[in-house]
Amino acid sequence: MVKKRWKTFIIAFIVGCSLIFGWGVSSGLQGLAQAHTKSVDRATGNFTVGEEFYLQYCSTCHIPIPPAVLPQETWQRILENPGNHYGVRIEGLTGFTQRLMWQYLQNYSRQLLRDEIRPQYMAQSRYFFALHPKVDLPTPTTINTCIQCHPQAQDFNYRVDF
Ligand code: HEC
Ligand code: HEC
Repeated sequence: MVKKRWKTFIIAFIVGCSLIFGWGVSSGLQGLAQAHTKSVDRATGNFTVGEEFYLQYCSTCHIPIPPAVLPQETWQRILENPGNHYGVRIEGLTGFTQRLMWQYLQNYSRQLLRDEIRPQYMAQSRYFFALHPKVDLPTPTTINTCIQCHPQAQDFNYRVDF
């Protein structure tokens, strides 16, 4: 009995440490992460859990948005303000899910340059346009227009095969 409790404690401790560690030093590791991050890859390894939470919490009201189209600063702002999300409220986020989603989103997106304005919408994001070179995008390009060219966007599939 006592032994079992210790085991639980140790596991909780390790999980806790890795969360705090991940949150705290992540900014220091950003350069490292970016070096091997491709823009729209599906999550691998430790990031799959965060991706699952992301898809669970962030694709009910609208299509799941690929992390790569927005900078880290925008994702952080969104995760920190679930009570004020573009005029609605995102229910059910906990510190635990927020952190795992943040680790995922952070790893699969990039930072803004110094002095660059944080975009609120994809249509203001340099990263979104970088993924659409020479594409004749609709005006305005809103979250509702993605589906025109990405028919499987709801399934988090943005591949375009021609
Ligand atoms: C309760 C419904 C709801 C949930 C849940 C929700 N959103 Fe949204 N989201 C909205 C609405 C409404 C908008 C505004 C859409 C618009 O203005 O066209 C929006 C807009 C956005 C935008 C900007 C879209 C653009 O045009 O660039 C992003 C990014 C976004 N949400 C991310 C998220 C993330 C990340 C989560 C999960 C943590 C999430 N959303 C969960 C309702 C929701
Ligand atoms: C007018 C058609 C069109 C619209 C609208 C559009 N896209 Fe695209 N998208 C494309 C094309 C074409 C490509 C491939 C561009 C290339 O690789 O040169 C692409 C590429 C992408 C990629 C990269 C895919 C990969 O595997 O590399 C992502 C992510 C993406 N789009 C997301 C979005 C989102 C999110 C929206 C809605 C805000 C959107 N797109 C709206 C046509 C469109």
